Amino acid sequence: MCGIVGYTGPKNPKDVLISGLKTLEYRGYDSAGIAILDQGEFRRIRAEGKLINLENKLSDQKFSGHLGIGHTRWATHGVPNETNAHPHAVDGVCIVHNGIIENYADLKEELKKKGTVFSSDTDSELVAHLIADKIRQGRSLFDSVMDVLPRLEGAYSILAVSKDHPDEMVAFKNGPPLVLGRGKGEVIIASDIQAIVAHTKEVIHLEDFEIAHIQNQQFQIFTRGGSPIHRSPITVSWSPELVEKQGYRHYMLKEIYEQPRAVAAALAPHIDLQNFTVRLKGVGFSPNSEEEETLEWLANINRVFIVACGTSYYAGMTAKYVIERLAEVPVEVDVASEFRYRNPVIPKGSLVVVISQSGETADTLAALRLVKDKGIPTLSICNVKGSTIDRESHGHLYMNAGVEIGVASTKAFVCSLTVLNLFGISLAKAHKKLNLEDESELVQALLASPSQMDTVLAYDKFFSEAAKTLSRYRGFLYMGRGVSYPIAMEGALKLKELAYMHAEGYAAGEMKHGPLALIDRTMAIVMLAPSDDLYEKTVSNLEEAKARGGEILSIGSGENERLKELSLHYLALPKASWLVNPLLEVLPLQLLAYHIADSLGYDVDQPRNLAKSVTVE
Ligand code: G6P
Repeated sequence: MCGIVGYTGPKNPKDVLISGLKTLEYRGYDSAGIAILDQGEFRRIRAEGKLINLENKLSDQKFSGHLGIGHTRWATHGVPNETNAHPHAVDGVCIVHNGIIENYADLKEELKKKGTVFSSDTDSELVAHLIADKIRQGRSLFDSVMDVLPRLEGAYSILAVSKDHPDEMVAFKNGPPLVLGRGKGEVIIASDIQAIVAHTKEVIHLEDFEIAHIQNQQFQIFTRGGSPIHRSPITVSWSPELVEKQGYRHYMLKEIYEQPRAVAAALAPHIDLQNFTVRLKGVGFSPNSEEEETLEWLANINRVFIVACGTSYYAGMTAKYVIERLAEVPVEVDVASEFRYRNPVIPKGSLVVVISQSGETADTLAALRLVKDKGIPTLSICNVKGSTIDRESHGHLYMNAGVEIGVASTKAFVCSLTVLNLFGISLAKAHKKLNLEDESELVQALLASPSQMDTVLAYDKFFSEAAKTLSRYRGFLYMGRGVSYPIAMEGALKLKELAYMHAEGYAAGEMKHGPLALIDRTMAIVMLAPSDDLYEKTVSNLEEAKARGGEILSIGSGENERLKELSLHYLALPKASWLVNPLLEVLPLQLLAYHIADSLGYDVDQPRNLAKSVTVE
């Protein structure tokens, strides 16, 4: 999705805007631009494609001003070209916009009737026209925004500047995030904390329908009624180094390798290392949210709904197996875009868990709000503290994955699984389904998982080699049973996202009901066959696939001659608990997708057409 950066302060705005936009590249974009106030006029430079094109255009440009705005655009209305790139400018007013103005057709028609000529195909440009019109009538920049705001419908975050108000910026939003950072004599505003942490760690999240008025390197926030709001900044812990590649070829590869440490960080706050028990901290259901109160509260939960999108959804599906097996509490899992429109029946005693790495995904947020309106308690599992979903949910658990930049999610997935495992254990304890001995066995298995993950990652070379032969297949069928089934779906999603190849994730037991017809020598089968209680059934499915000529890559636990015989490639995972198997199984699938995509020359960190943070529906 689009990225916004605005800056006013003593630094060179060109450098701040470009470096800020670079940290937002991961969100996905197809053009970029900046506008910097220079000797009383905004100089606007835009370019189609990647930021490097913009940088090339800017390389010999010097600016003397100290205020500017920048944008990376992910096309919605109008093709991705320079004309449609932001900032949009009208009579000295420049704006950058993230989101969609839903009533743009009506507003555009109205302006056209008055003789307004549009220079782009975007919905965004009309906001510049509306503000410029007010400024022509003598209104201040702030008042102009206040006038225009009630006219806009949809999901948007907008930053506006005007040459007639040279020390000011006005930001407002309904939906996509905007974060304000206050440094020493400078203000930076951006769609994401990543663009701010190089300047300051003190940030304030703008809420929907709030307006931030930045003037002379200070800012004040107002309600839409015009009343000032006082909000203290929060201090973020992410350091600027976390948004560097640190020697890896891609962010995604770095993030794949960070997973063992990330899982350890996700476990750490909740484990009592003396007794090997789970003490779910900071869930926030009860005022002081100590373990006892949390368990008491969870004892009354007799149904769980999990709602999420993309990779987070597959983490939720995996958790269904875990929670139902451990706690014997029924779990329903939905993709948020379906859940919010399917009129879900949520009985009393339910808890709705929403999972979102970014904490900003539009459908997940809408699902959360719908549930809250029904008076149902909610628990969020987010990676970005202070994100909208985190702020608006009742209870909170954090992935602790650190910054994730690669569009295709990796470490947030394993951290979500880890936190959901802990949640499952706590729910089981609360429902008296887990004795101390079993709990301690599970906790020790989880504590061992980071080093087992390290062992799996050491197979990286196996995948870079295997990718060379595997990239020639027409399609991929990923299969697994039980807890491995959602992992198969996540593996298929990774290949689709990165290598643009057709891949399906299927329950191995469903193979005879359709996918078997697809199998021939051009179809690669990736079979997850860990040594669990479904192993024999999975191997039978593998034999059926082999009999139809499928080329098999199987992933099992430890040395296994039978799987080796059946497969073209066999990968032995360390033997682990059923609870840990998904954490290990997903790693080879990530590496497989990464290496196939890389061998085909694709942009692994920013796959075509995809965005990291999907802040519009
Ligand atoms: C996008 C990203 C995926 C991510 C999904 C949900 O599609 O490309 O990697 O899994 O959104 O994002 P969330 O931030 O809600 O987990």
